[in-house]
Amino acid sequence: MNRTPLTLLGIETSCDETAAAVVRLCANGSGEILANVVRAQLDLHAAYGGVVPEIAARAHVDLLDPAIKQAMAEAQVDFGGLDGVAAAAGPGLIGGVIVGLTTAKAIALGCGKPFVAVNHLEAHALSPGLTDSVQPPYLLLLVSGGHTQLVVVKDVGDYTRLGTTLDDALGEAFDKAAKLLGLGYPGGPEVEQWAAKGSPSVPLPRPMLGRAEPHFSLAGLKTALRHEAMARTPLSDSDVADLCASFQAAVCDVVRDRVTRAMDLFEDQLPNTTALTLVAAGGVAANRALRAALGEVADARGYRLVVPPPALCTDNAAMIAWAGAQRLARGLSDQMDAPARARWPLDPDAPPAHGAGVKA
Ligand code: KG4
Ligand code: ZN
Repeated sequence: MNRTPLTLLGIETSCDETAAAVVRLCANGSGEILANVVRAQLDLHAAYGGVVPEIAARAHVDLLDPAIKQAMAEAQVDFGGLDGVAAAAGPGLIGGVIVGLTTAKAIALGCGKPFVAVNHLEAHALSPGLTDSVQPPYLLLLVSGGHTQLVVVKDVGDYTRLGTTLDDALGEAFDKAAKLLGLGYPGGPEVEQWAAKGSPSVPLPRPMLGRAEPHFSLAGLKTALRHEAMARTPLSDSDVADLCASFQAAVCDVVRDRVTRAMDLFEDQLPNTTALTLVAAGGVAANRALRAALGEVADARGYRLVVPPPALCTDNAAMIAWAGAQRLARGLSDQMDAPARARWPLDPDAPPAHGAGVKA
């Protein structure tokens, strides 16, 4: 690191959260969140059971400026007091990404500050360092509405993807499960609440269990859930609760198995790593049953489990500012022509995962 402390404004608009935050990278390497403003657009998308890209982009235009103003006011920093401006430049819904990226560039240009184009996935990957003293290397399970990946975080900017999903992301699977059971959006929290009232009595498959590569496949689980739900229609409340509990239990079994396999590969890659750490990030990491399952795996294998607090697991701009600060501290910044990217893999060299509808 060549320059600290650093105070950055971060902007996140890659999905359906409009977010602005001010974060400081302190001289001792720790992080301080001065403001973390998130304006969710849930009510705009709820009627559709998922995020509508065009609606999201328009909402970001309306919501972003007030969010930035609020973040700067709460942080009691003016633009001149910033050391840089960071924005998520992808991967994500391109219309929304352009809104945040253009705004960040304009502020940086207007104030003569460095601009950092941040990979949204890198921001999730580095987010535990903001609140916990976690140093790479560590094994990351990133589980959100758009992504499901197992990644070795070797250093800032140095990632090896071990596993991905062949079809749906884990959060997407929760959202689809909720939708087919007539529950609200986003589905994850709904399924979790209903699961607490039911028992995992419905037989559901555990796709990919025991496979050598730690990939995921969730489409078949969702289809099996649909069949079981149709067989019980009309669904009573206790049916819904049992179906949710069974779905969540299947997901936890799959995650346990896939993470255990990734631990084998992680330890093979970094045989001299003494402090073994497993980090879970992304919106689905807020699920308590999943956290408990990860806790069991971590205990069994001698790993320290680190899960950022829920507000830093779901999409937020503090993680964007933090990733931007990490890059800036290493002398990395971007030019005004940095592109918005719909796709931006963390590990461009990862071999393609085989299967239909593969997501990078
Ligand atoms: O990271 P995030 O806020 O946004 C994306 O980048 O996608 O994750 C949102 C996803 C949604 O699919 C939501 O259903 C899921 O995270 N989620 C959960 C829970 N809370 C949010 N899934 C399972 N259990 C939860 N408690
Ligand atoms: Zn995300």
